[in-house]
Amino acid sequence: MGKKRERWDSRGAFILAAIGSAIGLGNVWRFPYMAYENGGGAFLIPYFVALLTAGIPILILEMALGQRFQGGAPTALRKANKAFEFVGWYAILIASIVTFYYCAIMAWSVNYLVHAFSMKWQGNEEDFFYQEILHLSEGPGQLGGISPALIIGLAVTWFLIYLCVRKGVQSVGKVVLVTVPLPFLLLAILFFRGVTLPGAIDGLSLYLTPDFSKLGDLNVWKAAYGQIFFSLSVGFGIMIAYASFRPKNADVVNNGFITGLANCGTSFFAGFAVFSVLGYMAQQQGVPVTEVVDSGLGLAFVTFPKAIALLPAGAVAIGIIFFLMLLTLGIDSAFSLVEAASTAFSDEIKIKRHTTTVILCVVGFLAGLLFITDGGLYWLDIVDHWVNDYGLILVAFLEVLFLGWFFNLKSLQVQIDEVSEIKAGMWWLIMIKYVATPVLAVILVWGVINDIRNPYGDYDLIWRIIGGWGLIAVLLIASFIISGIQSGKSKEEVSS
Ligand code: ALA
Repeated sequence: MGKKRERWDSRGAFILAAIGSAIGLGNVWRFPYMAYENGGGAFLIPYFVALLTAGIPILILEMALGQRFQGGAPTALRKANKAFEFVGWYAILIASIVTFYYCAIMAWSVNYLVHAFSMKWQGNEEDFFYQEILHLSEGPGQLGGISPALIIGLAVTWFLIYLCVRKGVQSVGKVVLVTVPLPFLLLAILFFRGVTLPGAIDGLSLYLTPDFSKLGDLNVWKAAYGQIFFSLSVGFGIMIAYASFRPKNADVVNNGFITGLANCGTSFFAGFAVFSVLGYMAQQQGVPVTEVVDSGLGLAFVTFPKAIALLPAGAVAIGIIFFLMLLTLGIDSAFSLVEAASTAFSDEIKIKRHTTTVILCVVGFLAGLLFITDGGLYWLDIVDHWVNDYGLILVAFLEVLFLGWFFNLKSLQVQIDEVSEIKAGMWWLIMIKYVATPVLAVILVWGVINDIRNPYGDYDLIWRIIGGWGLIAVLLIASFIISGIQSGKSKEEVSS
């Protein structure tokens, strides 16, 4: 008989780990800006539609798969049907790439946290970020060198990840008791500081005033679905891995709802904290709020530090709180990505779990060096766009297509409903088969057409191929090859 599978200490530990994985950097730097750019308050409509029609149904699907088949993503999908295994590997490869650059962002946060004690960015925040921290080069073709401070930041990040996952779900279950509530508490402090600042209301009105005309734009819907998957941590194989350490008869549906709603509630809440501070900053500078909003990473590493420097009192404390929050938000998402891969490899390749984890942490650190080179920000931007907008959505699409249409999904629904307090029922089947599958197909096809017509960023074609189209294609081919090798091995084992 095989070795007994590890188990979470309690249901609470599992739910906290799932929530910790979902709530991450994406809730603070990605969601508020996405909402602002895609219709303000009106973005909440596609966002919650995406949550209910695809986010939560796929979250439940992944949790159900892991629990029923008791294995990481490739194992669980192969047990559903041999032909599905490559989707599991694709999810793991995508998760690995995301981990590499996610940890680079955390390495910047480590540096900012150290500098927060002296508010070193004061004066010229843009130069501080792009020159002092990143040493940003002219383009992706100029990798330049790597700053020692960022190497240290990356090493610290990976060492922390190793400490968190070294004993698998046993250590993860304990770490999340701190890494889930702590950033929430820090966010609450920022929220109250933010909304009590003069000018906060202008920021909030920009955040929440709906522009309904945006609802007719397919790009807005694509952004909403992309954000939901990234934010809920679905499509990475994480929830399959985490659920595989639950007993087969444990509740599924409630956990999916709790995780999904907790995550999206946090994003919404984070928007208040961020935009109230932006409102204050605009008022201090006597400009409209639209002029101070920066996109993506600029929001967390340029705009927010600038706003902090303008605070009337307690700026140092707020700076420390903000970057400590980013780190504690990011760490449990980062290590969940590592856990997804570590579970997949140790289930499939039968290397000891601890050895797998150590190898993954070392490989992750080395691969992450690309993203902290002088040209790293460009690579991060390119890879993040393609991996999220195509890789992740493709994984989710293949999951709903295969499991909805080429698998007895009804039997899975009956099984999870037997053990769950809330029932998935027809709603879930309809969402997976008839809503998520066609919607994701349209979003993918539309996205490709749109990206070809209006290429992303100002990057030369060669970089868009290497870091974008080529990368997601190579990962797909690699996942076919790995699943082919694995199925060859299992045939040999059967015949010997
Ligand atoms: N779900 C994680 C985040 O939002 C990856 O950052």
